[in-house]
Amino acid sequence: MTPEFAPFPATRLRRTRKSDAIRRLVAENALSPNDFIWPIFLCDGIATVQDIPSMPGVQRLSVDLAVKAAKDAYELGIPAICLFPYTDRSKRSSDCAEAWNPDNLSNTATRAIKDAVPDILIMSDIALDPYSDTGHDGLVENGEILNDETVTALVRQGLAQAEAGIDIIGPSDMMDGRIGALRTALERDGHKNTLILSYAAKYASGFYGPFRDAVGAANTLKGDKKTYQMNPANSDEGLRLVARDLREGADMVMVKPGMPYLDICHRVKDAFGVPTYAYQVSGEYAMQMAAAQNGWLDGDKVMLESLLCFKRAGCDGILTYFAPRAAQLLNG
Ligand code: PBG
Repeated sequence: MTPEFAPFPATRLRRTRKSDAIRRLVAENALSPNDFIWPIFLCDGIATVQDIPSMPGVQRLSVDLAVKAAKDAYELGIPAICLFPYTDRSKRSSDCAEAWNPDNLSNTATRAIKDAVPDILIMSDIALDPYSDTGHDGLVENGEILNDETVTALVRQGLAQAEAGIDIIGPSDMMDGRIGALRTALERDGHKNTLILSYAAKYASGFYGPFRDAVGAANTLKGDKKTYQMNPANSDEGLRLVARDLREGADMVMVKPGMPYLDICHRVKDAFGVPTYAYQVSGEYAMQMAAAQNGWLDGDKVMLESLLCFKRAGCDGILTYFAPRAAQLLNG
């Protein structure tokens, strides 16, 4: 319903923009640390920090430092972190068995963080790329990314994560049928309250480049991910994927990347009204940081604006590498 406006000068829309107080009073959306999931990269070792050149300010952390980072995040009011392991080359293989090793880097970190910071939510990634010698999210045979065999492997990975105490499972692999298979296995094995945040509308994007450096999948990746990730040209297909994943048992859904896909965020939230998240991915982070470091953009301003815009588009939260910096600023 469009309200009727009196013509100018009875209506002056600048009246509600006149001061900081009135702007705050009429604000339709707000950003807070409650909106953030912070992705953290893990590496082997103790007291080890590794820079990621294409993501200035983001580092891989050994488990002891990831525990400390989780504590800091919790104190800043960030409700959730998301773990991404850099798996040593020697543990990458064609069957990706390290993905369901109960003592792999991701599961070890999960237990350590749960122990030290029990109230922060820990989200995982479900996909085989950090464990694969091909850099693909699925098992590969003669150049084909196998669907059903991959789903079986992802279920093993998911159960190992649930066993380690993960709160939110994040399937980012885009295989068909994985949400239903994971949900059935979780229920069967007594993990009734494990949440699933499905990367439902995930696009085959050039914006993941720096992430692949971070998890060491850039050098190994053969070809592209277009047979499983979505075509950036499509929008209706994203709604079908979300509908399907909800029917299979997803609690929350994600759109990825973020900023170039705000229309998808909006359509998803409008159509389904379920908890909806966007991933402000590594390439988006890199672009903003590069421009800020060159003095071409005001980094903090652009960061907060970009995050607020996800809320306006309909997102309930954002996975963002900016989470600690943004939380600091928002907390004053
Ligand atoms: C892998 C995965 C990717 C990201 C999250 N999980 C990369 C990919 O699909 O190639 C990207 C995140 C980012 O770019 O920040 N399954």
